[in-house]
Amino acid sequence: MPRRHTAFVNILVTAGPTREPLDPVRFISNRSSGKMGYEMAAAFAHAGHTVLLVSGPTALDVPDHVDFLPVETAAEMYEAVANHLGRMEVAVFAAAVADYTATAAPQKIKKSTDTFTLELVKTRDILGSARTTLGFAGTLIGFAAETENLEANAREKLTRKGCNLIIANDVSKSGIGFDSDQNEVIMVHPDHTEALPLASKHDLAHQLVQAILEIHFSASFLKTSN
Ligand code: PMT
Repeated sequence: MPRRHTAFVNILVTAGPTREPLDPVRFISNRSSGKMGYEMAAAFAHAGHTVLLVSGPTALDVPDHVDFLPVETAAEMYEAVANHLGRMEVAVFAAAVADYTATAAPQKIKKSTDTFTLELVKTRDILGSARTTLGFAGTLIGFAAETENLEANAREKLTRKGCNLIIANDVSKSGIGFDSDQNEVIMVHPDHTEALPLASKHDLAHQLVQAILEIHFSASFLKTSN
């Protein structure tokens, strides 16, 4: 029987893709629609918590009772998270952040050569900086988008990024993951893994939010009872 929580907490959720500009009219991005992250933000708000949604560009409406901070690039998302993480108790990183960015040309790139090479540089890992550079001590939840070795890769991210939980989806499967209305995930905890069956992102978000709040409030209880 799920426990009802009476304390309300500050929660940051990242969602959507980022766009890394190449010139004034082109960018590198990915197929994230933002649906999974927006449903998470809405479910936390529905449970009465204070939610800040930091989102890359999407076509979605901002959920009711959610504070909204729109960003475009991975660097802007990093700055937005860095500016607000200090007052958060829970942070959930559902965004599909670009791993590489380019130096944008000031004018539209002309098609003057037969081949064209782009030099990309790594972006900062926002989730990976939360515990270290940003000093976040709250409940830290990451997502993992994998096309192989789902559990093993997710567990490696759990440890490397200092998370309390990784929610992993196999994005090679059709009908789930990027830009679909449904998803199927595994929850990778430090000591066990739990599979959640295929469901709408709306229903899944409510289950995930309940699990995250359980983790958060059990950890808070342990801290206060020591
Ligand atoms: O938006 P939808 O269309 O609804 O699709 C949902 C989703 C597939 C985008 C979502 O379920 C999901 O898997 N989100 C994470 C996507 C991702 O980029 O995963 P990753 O395995 O590459 O990254 C691992 C974690 O690090 C993620 O929490 C990511 O937000 C974070 N990260 C990654 C790179 C970076 N530079 N900074 C980060 O914070």
